[in-house]
Amino acid sequence: MTTSSTPATGGDRRETGLSAELAGTPATSPATTATIGGTGGTVSTGAAWLERYSGSLLDVFGTPQRVLVRGSGSRVWDADGAEYLDLLGGIAVNVLGHAHPLLTSVVASQQATLGHISNFFTSPTQVALAERLLALAGAPAGSRVFFANSGTEAVEAALKLARRAGNSADPVRPTVVALEQGFHGRTIGALSLTHKAAYREPFAPLPGGVTHIPAGDLDALRAAITEETAALVLEPIQGEAGVLPLPPGYLREARRLTREAGALLILDEVQTGVGRTGRWFAFQHEPDLMPDAVTLAKGLGGGFPIGALITFGSAVSDLLGPGQHGSTFGGNPVATAAGLATLHVIESDDLLGNADRVGRHLREGLARTPGVTAVRGEGLLIGFDLDADPADGLAPAAVLAALDAGFIVNAPGPRTIRLAPALLLTTEEADGFLAALPGILDAARAATAGTSAAPSAGTARPEPAQE
Ligand SMILES: Cc1ncc(COP(=O)(O)O)c(C=O)c1O
Repeated sequence: MTTSSTPATGGDRRETGLSAELAGTPATSPATTATIGGTGGTVSTGAAWLERYSGSLLDVFGTPQRVLVRGSGSRVWDADGAEYLDLLGGIAVNVLGHAHPLLTSVVASQQATLGHISNFFTSPTQVALAERLLALAGAPAGSRVFFANSGTEAVEAALKLARRAGNSADPVRPTVVALEQGFHGRTIGALSLTHKAAYREPFAPLPGGVTHIPAGDLDALRAAITEETAALVLEPIQGEAGVLPLPPGYLREARRLTREAGALLILDEVQTGVGRTGRWFAFQHEPDLMPDAVTLAKGLGGGFPIGALITFGSAVSDLLGPGQHGSTFGGNPVATAAGLATLHVIESDDLLGNADRVGRHLREGLARTPGVTAVRGEGLLIGFDLDADPADGLAPAAVLAALDAGFIVNAPGPRTIRLAPALLLTTEEADGFLAALPGILDAARAATAGTSAAPSAGTARPEPAQE
């Protein structure tokens, strides 16, 4: 038996270079200006990082609003030492906040034990997370899980499931129905379900066979679901569209119509799942409703990339067989360990109850705030509208004013703000935002009116939501 070891000097050299890069100082360039709050490392300022960003990253997101270097719970710090209350949670991802100790230690110890295997193999964490998801979803015998790495990949798997359902019907069912304003991801298949023209048109031709109908319109739904329909795909609450819930009874009617027509009901819970709305899944707000398939991602790994498709019952699960789908990374031991840790903390710390309570508190406070005209959402997925003409761009200006005031929020529309914080957000933290909001809105109004009280735009430009 032979052993090998890295010479101390070589190892040291590599570690020095790596730790410098991780701390923000490239080994080859002179150390620059500011110090990261809390780490003691010598690093570049936010502006210096942004300059390097613009020289190295593809410009698909616009200029980042800040350069973030550290987080703890619902707080994050930027490269210039400023602190923020993170009310966006990496867009509904960081359900346990930042640097959660249990999630961190589970990910580290799983990586130190078994990091990646191929799908020629399985691992205990993969099986355990699949079983856990099926139990939480109340899925019947024969239900199954496919693991991916992101929301769009979970939707790709769901779309392939829908095509299998359509192609194995006699006669073939060529159509998938989706909703206007729906957002389902950016890969080409998922993009065929996403509705927004600005996301779709530059990439035409997209795969066909998708019909979009007005969201929430029961007559349109009744007319659209026919014997030609392979599946109906929808978000229980449309997140990207501005946290738009479906009208009461819509989901139930969608279930009835799809069942009667022999079509699948596929719910995209990438944003609404994993406790975000105060239930494990948003569909569980409807008593006894069972979909045919559900997509998950965002919150599932608490920030570690993972997506999932759950198929309900054996008839649906059997639609995808060996060789018909796959993913190199999907379901790897570290991602699934992160999923198990995340679900464990949500349950043991009653984060569903917390999301429900703090979400209600936030919505009540928002509804009392002058200048807020509508408040929507469930749990800690919240959208609120501002009293403004859409052309004013008040919401993007409010995002910048909020940053200046130490809060991270997002504007999915020109007069709509979205909150999707950690499910462990406290009432006190929520109150801090509610207290600051009138001043934030004043600053945003001043900015859009072009007066001197404008928030310093920093380096950010008011961008549409970047899901
Ligand atoms: C409902 C929904 N589906 C799919 C996606 C795509 O997820 P991802 O960005 O992880 O690919 C998103 C992202 O925001 C989403 O909100």
